[in-house]
Amino acid sequence: MSKQRILSGVQPTGKLHLGNYLGAIRNWVQGQEDYENFFCVVDLHAITVPHNPATLAADTYTIAALYLACGIDLEHATIFVQSHVSAHSELAWLLNCITPLNWLERMIQFKEKALKQGENVSTGLLDYPVLMAADILLYNADKVPVGEDQKQHLELTRDIAGRFNDKFGKKKRPILKVPEPLISQSGARVMSLTDGTKKMSKSDPSTMSRINLLDSPDIIAKKIKRCKTDQVRGLTFDPENRPECNNLLNLYTILADKNKEEVATEFANMGWGQFKPLLTEVTMEVIKPIQDKYKAIRAEKGYLDSVLAEGRQKAEKVAAGTLAKVKKALGYLSPL
Ligand code: TYM
Repeated sequence: MSKQRILSGVQPTGKLHLGNYLGAIRNWVQGQEDYENFFCVVDLHAITVPHNPATLAADTYTIAALYLACGIDLEHATIFVQSHVSAHSELAWLLNCITPLNWLERMIQFKEKALKQGENVSTGLLDYPVLMAADILLYNADKVPVGEDQKQHLELTRDIAGRFNDKFGKKKRPILKVPEPLISQSGARVMSLTDGTKKMSKSDPSTMSRINLLDSPDIIAKKIKRCKTDQVRGLTFDPENRPECNNLLNLYTILADKNKEEVATEFANMGWGQFKPLLTEVTMEVIKPIQDKYKAIRAEKGYLDSVLAEGRQKAEKVAAGTLAKVKKALGYLSPL
């Protein structure tokens, strides 16, 4: 039996943080042998908010190199750049025309980001989830491993696929595969270091709110030392009353690869002064090998180029097949 297919991606905006790693990439790596995987660097999404053209290409390389450094294995996965496969933009347009506007206006992430930008909100920001749907549907993905914040976009993708199939497919032979979200139990919502009620985010103006995968050991130690805590002695998992404590214990649990009960007992009588160096230590243990591998890969531009060129070819083949089916169903004249 052929393996089920996975598609996921990360935007090359800002720096990859622990939330991106624990909510997404780490899970891609852990499950990669069981699936046929497509991982893209979603650079078309990166311009839905004001961006810097001078750094976009370098940021794209950085994310691709981090995929490899985190353990994505080319034997099981294809890594490619979204803008290198033009079918993404084309399918997004076609899906735009069947997606009701009010489905997009309901998206929480749009509302949050739009609020921050005031009058400068682009049409692209509103349309972002349709492009994301195109990314997924082009590859007939069975599963999409993401963090909790992308759940609503996945539901929208399923709705768009369903609507397309209803309108243009045959009952027993749907054209687009309806994908399932794959959201892990742990790490799906890593919270900010400066406010345990907000998710860790690339766009938070405070760099102290997140640990980036490429932060130096000194910076990581400083961020953990200064992160928000509380006055209560003894550490407990208590999301309601102690959001920061809950988040830091969760981080420790995942990074140290322990279970919650073990961690709850270990820290039941401990204070922050003892806990924080331990959290710093486990964080560095996980991050240091990634950083070392990243430096080696990033230094070999030729290698990275060949990975992305091969990825583009493989991705293009699959994407072209789906796009052709979609266009046929919509009644387009085939190229002559
Ligand atoms: P992006 O680039 O914002 O985030 C990449 C991945 O990281 C997850 N994530 C988190 N997980 C846990 N805790 C957090 N604090 C946290 N912050 C981010 C995200 O859920 C995501 O899985 N729209 C997507 C990119 C995208 C995509 C796709 C994903 C475009 N097309 C197709 C899957 C399939 C995004 O902006 O992710």
